[in-house]
Amino acid sequence: MEAKRIAAERAVDDVRDGMIVGLGTGSTAYYAIQRLGRLVQQGLSIQAIATSLQSEQLATQLGIPLVSFSEMTELDLTIDGADEVDSAFNLIKGGGGALLREKIVAAASKQLTIVVDEHKVVRQLGKFALPVEIVKFGYEATIRKLFQLGCEPILRARDGELYVTDNGNYIVDCSFNQIAAPVELHRELNLIPGVVDNGLFVGMTKKVIVGYDNGDVQVLE
Ligand code: A5P
Repeated sequence: MEAKRIAAERAVDDVRDGMIVGLGTGSTAYYAIQRLGRLVQQGLSIQAIATSLQSEQLATQLGIPLVSFSEMTELDLTIDGADEVDSAFNLIKGGGGALLREKIVAAASKQLTIVVDEHKVVRQLGKFALPVEIVKFGYEATIRKLFQLGCEPILRARDGELYVTDNGNYIVDCSFNQIAAPVELHRELNLIPGVVDNGLFVGMTKKVIVGYDNGDVQVLE
């Protein structure tokens, strides 16, 4: 937890008055939102867009002013977590189910800073099952197509119920074990009818902040 906190809090050093900030989702982004909340209470003037209903609720509780895409065109900085990061800064995201909103917000941001603990840094993506968001209609057919790409697809469930995203869709966790060509896989996945998006984030970030269990923090750019 400490490693996540120090990475997330460091990322907030880049936030300035007047910025529009994207709020990530998950247990690491949580610490960034908490620090932003404290700074807002001390007078920092920002507006924010959240990547999930969960982060939106947290921001509201902390008094962070929220805006919507109808009121702005571009975010200055988004701070978000990831499930895996490779040395080329390709990411797997979506362990928390928020990949679609996270990708929309990241794509509208001038800068995406990823905050992770040291255990998320990998040589090759794929040990973490890749989350793929699919529409409910025909989900059995969509899952068969995912299987044909060479993964073991598991429809996500929580507490005995199928997991439904903030967008009303299902998530399929696809175990590839190794993802040698993330760009190609990203394209192939998103060409399957029924797939809304997948948790590969390729070429979207230039800054990764890694927190270590011993309290060190490393900024990679
Ligand atoms: C949410 O859908 C994810 O993309 C998270 O950013 C990712 O799963 C990292 O979560 P933690 O910070 O909780 O590990």
